[in-house]
Amino acid sequence: MTENEESAGWASYYSKLRDRPPRRTLLMALDRFDPPPAAALALDLGCGDGRDAVEMLRRGWQVIAVDAEPEALRLLQARPLPPASVLTPIVSRLEDVPVPVGVHLVNSSFAMPLCDPSAFHALWQRIRDGLPGGGRFSGQWYGPRDSWAGRPGITFLERGQALVLLDGLELEMFEEEESDGVTPRGKAKHWHIYHIVARKP
Ligand SMILES: C[S@@+](CC[C@H](N)C(=O)[O-])C[C@H]1O[C@@H](n2cnc3c(N)ncnc32)[C@H](O)[C@@H]1O
Repeated sequence: MTENEESAGWASYYSKLRDRPPRRTLLMALDRFDPPPAAALALDLGCGDGRDAVEMLRRGWQVIAVDAEPEALRLLQARPLPPASVLTPIVSRLEDVPVPVGVHLVNSSFAMPLCDPSAFHALWQRIRDGLPGGGRFSGQWYGPRDSWAGRPGITFLERGQALVLLDGLELEMFEEEESDGVTPRGKAKHWHIYHIVARKP
């Protein structure tokens, strides 16, 4: 797929999923910060057009929103954002993005596996190192029975491999989903997904 085709694909994804509610992994992570930290700061990796970022802003979090697609960040900024929102949009690939000091929550809904395994593992190490004690990760990883398994540039993990990567963190959610469905772009797909909320002790 060319870069232009990839961008057109994501643009159609954004318009199909517009107005969907925030992901439940994000909602659980936010609810578990009770009360939220002072100057609460979140990093949303592969934010898309912002279904999760807007919820974090609504709850008073500052958000660094990262996506490779400029259109995603344009759509996010065009949303009606809460007054006094502190939003930092960054166009970057996940492969290159640092985890800034002071981040309490790293959220990556259906996005973090969209890079090859070496980049995925390096990113996960940056997330683990960058989160402070009490910090959280929320998001989805993909399992090997997913229909997309084998596609280049995407990372798939056996359940045991995922659990090894999460070792030493407190698992507040680790749900394995296998289901047959249809993608937002209308293609039949077998989903094999881990839904994760993990806290650094
Ligand atoms: C499936 S969408 C998820 C969007 C949003 N997080 C959600 O839950 O609806 C994946 C997003 O990740 C972005 N993306 C895919 N691969 C990426 C990469 N390697 N680096 C940065 N962003 C990427 C896409 O542009 C897209 O906006």
